Formats: sequence, C-alpha cells, structure tokens
Amino acid sequence: MHPTVNIAVRAARAAGDVILRYHNQVDLLTIENKSLNDFVSEVDKTAEKAIINEIKKAFPKHSILAEESGETLGDDNFLWIIDPLDGTTNFLHGFPQYAVSIALLEKGITTHAVIYDPFKEELFTSSKGEGAYLNDERMRVTMSLGLKDTLIGTGFPFKQPQHLDCYLETFKAIHPHVSGIRRAGAAALDLAYLAAGRLDGFWEIGLNSWDIAAGALMVKEAGGFIGDFSGRDQYMETGNIVAGNAEVYKALLKKIHPHLSDELQR
Ligand code: IPD
Ligand code: CA
Ligand code: CA
Repeated sequence: MHPTVNIAVRAARAAGDVILRYHNQVDLLTIENKSLNDFVSEVDKTAEKAIINEIKKAFPKHSILAEESGETLGDDNFLWIIDPLDGTTNFLHGFPQYAVSIALLEKGITTHAVIYDPFKEELFTSSKGEGAYLNDERMRVTMSLGLKDTLIGTGFPFKQPQHLDCYLETFKAIHPHVSGIRRAGAAALDLAYLAAGRLDGFWEIGLNSWDIAAGALMVKEAGGFIGDFSGRDQYMETGNIVAGNAEVYKALLKKIHPHLSDELQR
C-alpha cells in the first residue's frame, strides 16, 4: 500500500472508531439541520476532526476541503477532500450503510483514495495507476454487456426537490431495462460497490465533491467509467454523475440524456 494511503487509512479508521462508538446511541446525539433534509450530528464533526488531525500530523502544509469544516488553505498542489460520514441519514436511523470517504488530489488529479465502512469492516483503497482494492482483494467492475440483467445504484434528489420530476423521468427510462435499482443512501459506498462489481452502474443528480472524489478514482482504477450527464469529466463540478463498466456507462448515458432539464444538461 502506498505510504500516503496508509496515512489516509489511519485517518479513516480513527473516524470509524468515532462512528462506531456512537452507533448504538444515536438517540443521545444532537442533530442539526443544515438545509432541507441535510443533517449533521456531533459524530460527523468529531469524526472529521479525527481525520484532519491524522492528516495534519503527516502533511501539515496540505490544503483540506472537508464537508463539515470547509476549506483549510495550504499548499494548493495537495488537496484532501473529506466526507467524515457519508450516509448520515442512514446512520441516524441505525441503517448500517455509511462510510468515511477520503481522497487526495495532487494538482487537481485524484491520486489516492480510501472509503471505509466501519460497521462491515470493509476497507476500499486505491492509488492512481495501481488498481483498487477491497481489503486485500483487487476490485474489478462487472463485465455486463448492456443493461440487461444488471443491478444499478442510484440516489434520489431529496435535498434538491426541484430535480425530482426530471430524476423520475430518468428512473422510468432505465427501470424497464435492468434487473434492479438500489438506493442504499451513501454515494461513496455506491461507487465503491460499483468498483467491487456489486453494482453494474450508478447515476445521481447533485452530489458534492466529497461524496464523489474517492469513489471516482476507485471506479476508474477498477476498469470502469465515470462522467457527468454529457459524458465529460466535469462531474466533480456539476455533481451529476453516471458510472459503470464501459457498456453500462454508455447505455445509462443514452437513457438519461433525453430526459434532462436545461440545467442538468451538463
Ligand atoms: C449523502 C449520501 C447520499 C446522497 C446525498 C449525499 P451525506 O451524503 O451520499 O447517498 O444521495 O446526496 O449528500 O450527507 O450523508 O454525507
Ligand atoms: Ca456525503
Ligand atoms: Ca457527510
């Protein structure tokens, strides 16, 4: 494992300890509403502090973008993008599908990534050019040749209800052609599962860079494709993503594109 990934793993495990310490006691947490259907608890914040602490110990000059505390400016050639708890709503309901997501971008290119599910003890790691791993096993995307018999992941735009009608049209366009569609509630894990071959494809509207950065590297390093709704690579900026193996990626884009509003044609 690359030494930088080792640091990120240490940080992710520290956050995982925080998350597990509270997972049976969610009733005791103070929960704030950041915006519509967007919640944060002290678990998110404490986990984020634990991650930043580990990263700063090893790389005191690097820049950081973390979901709860925002930007810490430093050497802008190195940017850590952190989601301390992806799947907060699941966590707050005791639904065990959530993870820590950490990525390092060097000069704007994602080079290292860790996604850690502390409940299932699944550690997903990747470094650019070196493949992607689940625990110690190499991950590869599925070999499905089209949408037939596939299992596709998605997310609902519950924080952006203005996109719901449009999203439902994309859902209707995909639904008849696949075996199943899953909305598991943690986008970083959805992408890790795609890399691991547990899902054949994925699409979602309006994600943030901390939901996507680590998982996108894993998808690519596992042989998959990821893009925005125009099939370009602006997905970190737009937050709109389509992903899959080569065939599923192309097929999903084709089904989604005709149903996009002007705003989502990116
Ligand atoms: C959320 C999850 C969810 C996705 C949301 C994200 P959070 O992240 O990834 O699957 O649909 O858009 O915001 O808020 O739990 O870190
Ligand atoms: Ca998230
Ligand atoms: Ca989060």
